[in-house]
Amino acid sequence: MADITVTEYLLLHQKQSPHATGQFTGLLYDLILSGKTIARRITKAGLLDILGGTGEVNVQGEDVQKLDEIANRIMIYRMERCGALCAMSSEEEPELIRVRPEFPHGDYILVFDPLDGSSNIDANINVGTIFSILRRPDGNRGEVALEEVLQQGVRQVAAGYILYGPATMLVFSTGQGVHGFTLDPGVGEFLLSHPDMRIPQQGHVYSVNEGNWKNWSAATRDVIDWFHNCPSPTGSPYSSRYVGSLVADFHRTLIYGGIYMYPPDAKKPDGKLRLLCEASPLAFLAEQAGGKASDGMGRILERKPDKLHARMPLFIGSADDVTAVETIYAKHA
Ligand code: AHG
Ligand code: MN
Ligand code: MN
Repeated sequence: MADITVTEYLLLHQKQSPHATGQFTGLLYDLILSGKTIARRITKAGLLDILGGTGEVNVQGEDVQKLDEIANRIMIYRMERCGALCAMSSEEEPELIRVRPEFPHGDYILVFDPLDGSSNIDANINVGTIFSILRRPDGNRGEVALEEVLQQGVRQVAAGYILYGPATMLVFSTGQGVHGFTLDPGVGEFLLSHPDMRIPQQGHVYSVNEGNWKNWSAATRDVIDWFHNCPSPTGSPYSSRYVGSLVADFHRTLIYGGIYMYPPDAKKPDGKLRLLCEASPLAFLAEQAGGKASDGMGRILERKPDKLHARMPLFIGSADDVTAVETIYAKHA
């Protein structure tokens, strides 16, 4: 395949997408630059004394890793200056971040998880940055209100992630399919490596933290048991895989098919994952790739968050596998 850089791809598609204005292309470009900067820091982490925790706990009640903080700062610094945004929301920040008056403003809102899977960092396991791009409701001017950010996922203009793994990959969608780019570290460019990614209709892998079994409802146990007992398309049982980095577990699901699940449990009645910065962007990608994303009852993309850090159960991946989960929960309802 001829080498198509992400910059070339964005410029080529700028004309075709209703959202892809020069401002929007610039936003994606700066997002990619932030991702490359984070990738560089992660690659050197073991050498620079930036592994481990900061000793602080974030707004989610989780231990903050040094790289969480570094990735968060890189994103906020770069993206506040990109000229396309009026506000941002980060998993690591309790409040909405409004672009300060000294920087140029645009109509877009960026929601992100600067480093997903950060509890895996010290073990050199894949982590990633997840992003969701929303647009300010038409005509709104002045200071951004929280309500403008609390949008349903169907209204996302674009979503994606940068996966820092054996290779650094950028996977995103602007609503015209899902496309994957791999970073060529020699030249520092992302090259189109996975055009038009599609999730198989049914997979052969289920992915869930089964350590939560004793806290699950009878319905959730039935869901997991279904994957223990149902033959996969190959006739063999489903395999179990769980990295513990949502972005890595999702990427595998996108490539091979199957299902990733973070169900509700007695300790976490809304599950663990954040709707705006984790579930919603990945749901957008899943649907664009021909898969499904559900909270067990219905479509994630139709759920409207009631607060910035609202959580939601997540079942995401191959359409048939997600439908099987919804059918089991419906029987228990
Ligand atoms: P983050 O590192 O951004 O806080 O997200 C952690 C999330 C997600 O990446 C992963 O799938 C999930 O937490 C794992 O949770 P458990 O350890 O409860 O399985
Ligand atoms: Mn996360
Ligand atoms: Mn995170």
